[in-house]
Amino acid sequence: MSLTSAQLMTLWQHVLTLSRVQPGENVVVLNTYDGSTPYKSVAISQPEILGAQVSYVEVPSRSSLPDAVLPLLTAADLIIDLAFILDGRMHRCRATGTRVLVILEPPEILERMLPQAEDKQRAIAAKENLARAKVMHVTSAAGTDFYAPLGEFPAMCQYGFADESGHWDQWPGVFVFTFPNERRASGTVVLDRGDIIFPFFTYIQSPITLQVENGFIREISGEFDADYMKAFMAKYQDDDVYAISHIGWGLSHNGQWEAMGLYRKGETEGQDGRAFAGNFLFSTGPNTVGGGQRSTPCHLDVPMRHCSVYLDDEPVVLNGRITFERQVLASTLA
Ligand SMILES: [Fe+2]
Repeated sequence: MSLTSAQLMTLWQHVLTLSRVQPGENVVVLNTYDGSTPYKSVAISQPEILGAQVSYVEVPSRSSLPDAVLPLLTAADLIIDLAFILDGRMHRCRATGTRVLVILEPPEILERMLPQAEDKQRAIAAKENLARAKVMHVTSAAGTDFYAPLGEFPAMCQYGFADESGHWDQWPGVFVFTFPNERRASGTVVLDRGDIIFPFFTYIQSPITLQVENGFIREISGEFDADYMKAFMAKYQDDDVYAISHIGWGLSHNGQWEAMGLYRKGETEGQDGRAFAGNFLFSTGPNTVGGGQRSTPCHLDVPMRHCSVYLDDEPVVLNGRITFERQVLASTLA
């Protein structure tokens, strides 16, 4: 069911209010000139209703911003990114307090996964728990037995709105993550049937077994899905593509594992798959987002079902179900 423009405006007001758009703030709506977003009009009008001054900027490409745009972005209080700009210089703006909110998903997903203030509470609690941990241990009945020493990189989270100075987010995902200490992750990761691989936007049909040593995947075995993954990664001819990237777990109670199957490729950005509650989000490639030096354009996000995730031997996810959240809710109610 499609949304009316009035319903869409109500959703945007909700998220922009959570993002603390204030009268007099400078909001920049950023898009590519050939972008297919349905949100150009609402992205301009709704911050104006909240009293912000809005600029609309179209750039030629997602991958590289013209130099002349950068001062405008640096001066912004909030950038609404309708294109998911990949130019890393945009993130430098955040050092001076600019908030960034990416909005790509189709309206019905924005509505179903509409962020709430308590999503932030849960995400921050999970992030603080993750930040205290020295090691993450992940297991599954499929055969995963993976260790990641932690502490070298910060714990980070996404909760669907951009309210704090310098915060980057995407409506509507809610999840928490960090990066393993450089060259220290080890063990076996079995990507099982039904786990999702981005950017392929496919559900795995045949298990893929990964052997991880000193922070890098050193063996990929299985049937068709393993062959495809191997071929995709090999074409980069770069050992960094085999490194372990961010690891964490999904916190969105309205994210749906099965939703991606209802869309053609390109129709969804995959926030359902990345954020559905209790997934273990495994990934490969760069660690620059966490402050590391490893940069490679080959990046696989792999939300895995039915895993158990332990932080210093304490479970936060058991067989795909969040357990830590119960502790958070219990302490909130106490
Ligand atoms: Fe990722």
